[in-house]
Amino acid sequence: MKIFLDTANLESIRKFNDMGLLDGITTNPSLMSKEGGNPKDIMEEITKIIKGDVSLEVVSTEYSGMIEEGKRLRQYGKNVVVKVPMTPDGLKACKHLTSEGIPVNVTLIFSPNQALLAAKSGAKYVSPFIGRLDDIGKDGMNLIKDIKKIFDNYKDDFKTQILVASIRHPIHVIDAAKIGAHVVTLPPTVLDKMLQHPLTDIGLENFLSDWKKLKAGI
Ligand code: G3P
Repeated sequence: MKIFLDTANLESIRKFNDMGLLDGITTNPSLMSKEGGNPKDIMEEITKIIKGDVSLEVVSTEYSGMIEEGKRLRQYGKNVVVKVPMTPDGLKACKHLTSEGIPVNVTLIFSPNQALLAAKSGAKYVSPFIGRLDDIGKDGMNLIKDIKKIFDNYKDDFKTQILVASIRHPIHVIDAAKIGAHVVTLPPTVLDKMLQHPLTDIGLENFLSDWKKLKAGI
């Protein structure tokens, strides 16, 4: 399973990229806004740091604007994937950009039917938002199971990858991996939690205090 970081924070991107953990990045207008500064500089820098796919989202809501913005976003780097919303115009833009060799991530997916249609439009990725479904009392992970089943039934027709988004905690990651989702995109806080275990900290502390008793170097 590929791990993407769901952030526009350059410090976090560098931190986890230096550990070799990142296969890509996803951003959205809210994440860009959170960072402040000049979004163009940030987007360009992310595409330089990360070798894998970097999803950059359009803010236009109509077809021609999406195409124009998508092409401009793509100029930031060859690894840019244009993110469009799951709307009729978004799917039309998905079809057009894909036909020109520009990969597309269709975002704001909340139903298996939406994922199916985005795949039909040629999306490289579909982004189902599981945390936001959990928030309204639906089981977000069921959506991932359904999409996986549908895509597996038509493997020869769909090459679209399931990019699990709106992940809130490490259990979401384990469940997505068990289902066989292709990608998870994680907020830095979730990736930090995945790294940690209290027994690792206690174990290391004990190793170091035992070694000190030897009064020797390595
Ligand atoms: O990038 C899209 C998605 O991951 C957003 O997550 O936490 O705002 O629902 P969240």
